[in-house]
Order: sequence, then C-alpha cells, then structure tokens
Amino acid sequence: MVAGVSEEIRHAYCTGEDRLMAAKPLTLKLSIAELTERARTCKACDLWKHATQTVFGEGPSIAEIMLVGEQPGDQEDRSGHPFVGPAGKLLEHALEQAGIDRSDVYVTNAVKHFKWEAATRGKRRIHKKPRQSEIEACRPWLDSELEVVKPRVLVCLGASAAQSLLGKDFRVSRDRGKPVASPLAPRVVATVHPSSILRAQDDESRKSQMQLLVEDLKLVARLAKNTKRRS
Ligand code: URA
Repeated sequence: MVAGVSEEIRHAYCTGEDRLMAAKPLTLKLSIAELTERARTCKACDLWKHATQTVFGEGPSIAEIMLVGEQPGDQEDRSGHPFVGPAGKLLEHALEQAGIDRSDVYVTNAVKHFKWEAATRGKRRIHKKPRQSEIEACRPWLDSELEVVKPRVLVCLGASAAQSLLGKDFRVSRDRGKPVASPLAPRVVATVHPSSILRAQDDESRKSQMQLLVEDLKLVARLAKNTKRRS
C-alpha cells in the first residue's frame, strides 16, 4: 500500500485502461531506470497532451537527500531533465553555498509534465500551476521514487511539492525550514521554490531570500549527516 494515495485515485489507476501505466509502480518495486521508462507513456492526467515529454527524476538512485519541485519548466520540457533552466541554476548555486553537491542529490518534481499556456503575444509558453487532481495523478510516481531512493532527508521546494507530500493545509510561508514529522522519510523539510527568488522585486530582496534558502539547505545538510537511512 502506498501512503498518501487515496482509495479513489488508486481505484482510477487500477481500472482506467489508458491509466494502467501508473498502476504498476503501486505494486511493483522497480528501479529508477525502469520507472523512468514506464513514466514516458503516462496518461494518468491530461498534461501529457501538450508536453514534449515526461521529465522524470534524476540523480543517484540511493541518495541522502531528495529534492522535490513542482513541475518541469520550458527548458526542462525540451531537454527532458529536471531543474536545468533558470530555477535549476539558482538551486544549484544555493546547494553549493550550503555545501551540498547537486550530483549527490536526487532531484524530481511533484508533477512530471510541463503545464503551460501560450503567451498572448509571441511564442512563449507560460508556466501554469498544476491542479490538485494533476498533482494527485502524479503522486504514485513520487511514491515509487521515494521507495527506491529512500532519502534520509526529503525536501519540498515550494507549495505544490509541500501540498502533494505534506497535505493541502501545509503552508511553506509558516513552516519552512522546520523538520516535519512524516512517514515518507526520517526527516522532511519544506522551503521556498527557487523560482520565487527569481521573481523577487529587487536585488536586495533577492539576496535576502537567497540567504534564507541557503540557511534552509544548510539545515538539510546537517540533518542528512545526523540521520540514518530508512531500511
Ligand atoms: N521548476 C520546477 O519545479 N521543476 C523543474 O524541474 C524546473 C523548474
């Protein structure tokens, strides 16, 4: 049984024919490479229709730290890799300042297809926040990743990841940087999404928001050192 997946969703996965791909991770223990392959054809919600490809998680399949973002952005959708665009660069910089090597971390998203709308002018694709139903449809993949990676510290980046993993009432603004009790990993921490820092009004506020993110990630590094892996 996968924690956090409602009966309703489990039922939908197990009965809808074109949704069958997502049912498998609920019952089989697969490697990250196998999960990535299966998720390629996932149709558990409609987001696949307008995305270039599924962007699955990446990183060591046994990692002390697992970071969960919201959904791939434009560059991630085109390249097929998570956090490679501007938010990814900022995240990498923050990790570095916190003494964490990105290549040691498993990085994924709550939703694995890019949700967007066309800009009113020009060809830009504008990020659209995923709906709760889309986050829930993708949750079995996240649970399967957690089962394989078994991180010591699970980090939710922003509200979508936090609400997917910690519940709809979780507020990043209130509870960021505080370890939260959860059956998902020995330590779970939420912090802001790096793209919120990219949207800061001015340099001063960008700098102070970045400092807070680095502080949260330093806590994550300390927790990872002092916590045992789940068996
Ligand atoms: N934002 C996310 O939440 N994830 C990505 O992979 C890129 C941008």
